[in-house]
Amino acid sequence: MKPEITLFRVSNYFFKAKQNFSDMIILGIESSCDETAAAVVCDAENADGRILSNVVLSQENEHRPYGGIVPEIAARSHLEHVDHLIKQALDDANVTLADVDGIAATGGPGLIGGVIVGVMSAKAIASVQQIPFIAVNHLEGHALTARLTSDVEFPYLLLLVSGGHCQLLIVEGVGHYKRLGTTVDDALGEAFDKSAKMMGLGYPGGPIVEATAANGDGTRFDLPRPMLGRQECHFSFSGLKTALRRQIERLNDGGNITDQDIADLCASFQEAAGDVLIDRCTNALKQFRDQYPAGDTLVVAGGVAANQRLGSRLSELEKAENISLVVPPAALCTDNAAMIAWAGLERLKAGDSDPLDFKPRPRWPLDPDAPAAIGAGVKA
Ligand code: KG4
Ligand code: ZN
Repeated sequence: MKPEITLFRVSNYFFKAKQNFSDMIILGIESSCDETAAAVVCDAENADGRILSNVVLSQENEHRPYGGIVPEIAARSHLEHVDHLIKQALDDANVTLADVDGIAATGGPGLIGGVIVGVMSAKAIASVQQIPFIAVNHLEGHALTARLTSDVEFPYLLLLVSGGHCQLLIVEGVGHYKRLGTTVDDALGEAFDKSAKMMGLGYPGGPIVEATAANGDGTRFDLPRPMLGRQECHFSFSGLKTALRRQIERLNDGGNITDQDIADLCASFQEAAGDVLIDRCTNALKQFRDQYPAGDTLVVAGGVAANQRLGSRLSELEKAENISLVVPPAALCTDNAAMIAWAGLERLKAGDSDPLDFKPRPRWPLDPDAPAAIGAGVKA
């Protein structure tokens, strides 16, 4: 039997009927991983009125039996659903394709089969409607979400923590990024997912670890804080993951690991991750302020930014470093198409769009000039 998929319309939060039809309207498509999503945004002055629709179809249930994302299943599912999601997003926004000024799709990085589905759909619509096509860097979608929801001004420091990336960047403007640090092994979301798997908690791991940790004691296990105290801004999470595995094996030795043990492990893992993020962000803030002495904003983005405990740990920096911390609403931290439509809108307003022969990019760094971090491999 085919597993069910879950459709949810995000952000009643921002949902408002479009008020001013002179606003620019962009349709966005996201299909780079395990969510098929479509959204319509506009450039209303008030952030509350910008998201006109935002539908996300999660493939979680299709991948769950395999304990992780199967690229072939993901691509086929995107292909099956993208058209009706686009229609849904237009209907929810109460607009037609004739009202749309441009169409944005994730052009990479991501699982290439899925990216191709979104890009081809967007190119077809752009070509029939004779409107601009914008191939959006998925990471730029995450990076600019805070400007969709909170009117954050450039430049700002960005902690980008997702399933595939863990980076600190200075966001200087649309298309202008300076990478200060990256992970040399796992991304933080990946470490959450792998840890959840080790503890038998299933997929996707991040939200389950957070929920399980709520009943746990984060001081019980003294897990390592990789890179803590080092004077640069890179990350490493494989040592933390290995230490967690050893603890699990120790507790499992008698075959009687308890639910409380698991909750305490999740909480301890989360606290270790929180300490690392605070330490790395403190270093990055120094570097940011060396370049921009008036810089006072730290934005957190990507799926892991949905974690409330990590958000509250990072808010410690507001007082300690005299900055304001901006974390978009959880539903806009995890993958969605409103962020892709918004990044497309920002690029189009800057006079930028892409030709219809754009080739999807499995790898697409935000700062192509950043020196490779030793050992970082493809995550650089
Ligand atoms: O940004 P995203 O939706 O997709 C990528 O671009 O990778 O991020 C997905 C990642 C997954 O690893 C997921 O486990 C993690 O974000 N994540 C979380 C939470 N919600 C999602 N990690 C920790 N706590 C959460 N609440
Ligand atoms: Zn993402």
